[in-house]
Amino acid sequence: MKPLLSVRNLTKTYKVRKGILKHENINALKNITLTLNEGEILCVVGESGSGKSTLGKIILRLEKPTDGQVLYKGKDIFKLGKQYTKEVSVVFQDPRTSLNPRMSVYEILKEPLVVHKEKDIEKKIKDALSRVKLPPEVLRRKPTQLSGGQAQRVAIARAIILSPRLVVADEPTASLDLSVQSEILALFSELNSKGIAFLFITHDIRVVEKIAHRVAVLYAGVLMELGEKEKVLRKPLHPYTQYLLSNVPARHPKDRKPVESIYEEEQKPPKEGCPFLPRCPKALEECTKTIRRVEIDGRTVSCNLY
Ligand SMILES: Nc1ncnc2c1ncn2[C@@H]1O[C@H](COP(=O)(O)OP(=O)(O)OP(=O)(O)O)[C@@H](O)[C@H]1O
Ligand SMILES: [Mg+2]
Repeated sequence: MKPLLSVRNLTKTYKVRKGILKHENINALKNITLTLNEGEILCVVGESGSGKSTLGKIILRLEKPTDGQVLYKGKDIFKLGKQYTKEVSVVFQDPRTSLNPRMSVYEILKEPLVVHKEKDIEKKIKDALSRVKLPPEVLRRKPTQLSGGQAQRVAIARAIILSPRLVVADEPTASLDLSVQSEILALFSELNSKGIAFLFITHDIRVVEKIAHRVAVLYAGVLMELGEKEKVLRKPLHPYTQYLLSNVPARHPKDRKPVESIYEEEQKPPKEGCPFLPRCPKALEECTKTIRRVEIDGRTVSCNLY
């Protein structure tokens, strides 16, 4: 497979004010290197604050990296023009906030076509609607007059209307009911089978299982494990991936138990070394100082155990 997108040594540090004169640096991404191949679904998984959305935002050029690069078909994305926006689009988590409530579905779908001076607008709107399996009647409606699942289908139609090569989807099913979630995931798989690649961000390992070709596991801004889904889920190498897989939350919220801490005392992660150290049951002395990135069994693992 050909790489469509190459993320190289990507680092993002946010400066956050702490008091009047003090600043704190938050390392949202630390030296991330990965590729996304033409036509694949790469899932980015990790718990809250691990840097998933920051990675998506940089790829969408909504944030600038502090260091490192993102290449699209071998070129720096920040040096590419409007064509990049056409080829790389986005679906956000919640259609209630990502779709303008004052616009009709027709206006929402027409907007990107007008911005990019496309021809055959009516046909393209009709095609996009049918690809997401919505009837033409919804065109007259406003997003507030649609169900959550229908509204997300509109957001997906808007994302594919310019025939992108890649869609960044940031937790696109997290705000939906479970049954609707499955339908929307099936729709993503179908769009993928027609050639669209996805960077699919999720905190749910079950979503990874359903949809991914490859998976990137992030923890505190560090890429802990990256590889083919079958390998990573069947035989996770990183202790954090093992932890994620053994703590799949129960489907129904009322059956969910609080996540049990696997270490005794909450400690601060080391400045250098592995951020997972305080929670790692297999930590070594050297994990306080360094974190080694190795290639094993066709995947990348950042762990001193290997
Ligand atoms: N604009 C910002 N200013 C300061 N800090 C930020 C900003 N955006 C993100 N962060 C911080 O960067 C880290 C990564 O955030 P990010 O939103 O990428 O995580 P995430 O994995 O998407 O989390 P979630 O699952 O909650 O969506 C967090 O510590 C977050 O607080
Ligand atoms: Mg996020």
